[in-house]
Amino acid sequence: MKHLLSLEKLSREDMQAILASTTTIKKERGHHKAQPLAGQTWALMFSKSSTRTRVSFEVGIRELGGQVMFLSSADIQLGRGEPIKDTARVLGRMVHGAVIRTFAQNDVEEFAEYSKIPTVNALTDDEHPCQILTDIFTYQEKRGPIQGKVVTFVGDGACNVPASWIFAAAKLDFELRIAAPKKFQPSADVLKRAGGKITCTEDLAAAAKGADLLYTDVWVSMGKEAESADRLRELAGYQINASIVKQAKSDALVMHCLPAYRGKEIDEQTFEANAQTIFDEAENRLHCQKAIMSWMVS
Ligand code: CP
Ligand code: NVA
Repeated sequence: MKHLLSLEKLSREDMQAILASTTTIKKERGHHKAQPLAGQTWALMFSKSSTRTRVSFEVGIRELGGQVMFLSSADIQLGRGEPIKDTARVLGRMVHGAVIRTFAQNDVEEFAEYSKIPTVNALTDDEHPCQILTDIFTYQEKRGPIQGKVVTFVGDGACNVPASWIFAAAKLDFELRIAAPKKFQPSADVLKRAGGKITCTEDLAAAAKGADLLYTDVWVSMGKEAESADRLRELAGYQINASIVKQAKSDALVMHCLPAYRGKEIDEQTFEANAQTIFDEAENRLHCQKAIMSWMVS
């Protein structure tokens, strides 16, 4: 049984296999013969908002021949306190795969254990593995192997998106720099578990110097809304804008997992100047997740 619960637990070989088959799946969209989810129904169980992840999984499951149902936690008994392990044992008897967006990483792990069906982490507080696999695919599609390159993450270095970047860095041999205020740097535990060549600094200009990829994410992740005012104050200055882009390599890419808040983690001009890459990145969620699900059921 294969799951995609985190990049921490995904092997380098599996990561590379998914990235390679994304290329084929993207090329063959609309005329591929394989329908690996034919006869299957997959459930999307989401406790947080989503545009890209929800739409790309719903379309992707259909394109792989499967049926899909969307379950908002507000509508199912989970939202009224039914334990995750009971929800998992019910769904596991009825559907063939699950895609879960929630808060605690332990909830997706417990779901996978109790449901005994292929389970995907579609974002938890700890990781966003589908996003970072897609980002790496997008980088490589435009610039070739990420191995040996310098990726600079700017902003809230302690949230799910940089954590998945951290776990990918050691496995795919690229250098990762995290530019964040002290309070928003990754935990020592995550860094230790990941290994790899990772620098954490408060010096944004130094982190951007010579980078091949500048990357950012929202300053206020889902679930952190109560901290908004403090975060906006403390993260001010950790923005990708023209002066930061100037520090990077002349052919550096600028990427954003979206949704983007202009004037906060990125300025309007820099966002629009890089919109082609950013929306290719968003589209690639579909292709990469089709590769992930095909790998899971193979
Ligand atoms: N990047 C991303 O996961 O977007 P959504 O929250 O819209 O799914
Ligand atoms: N760190 C963000 C990612 C959104 C796709 C969040 O968790 O809200």
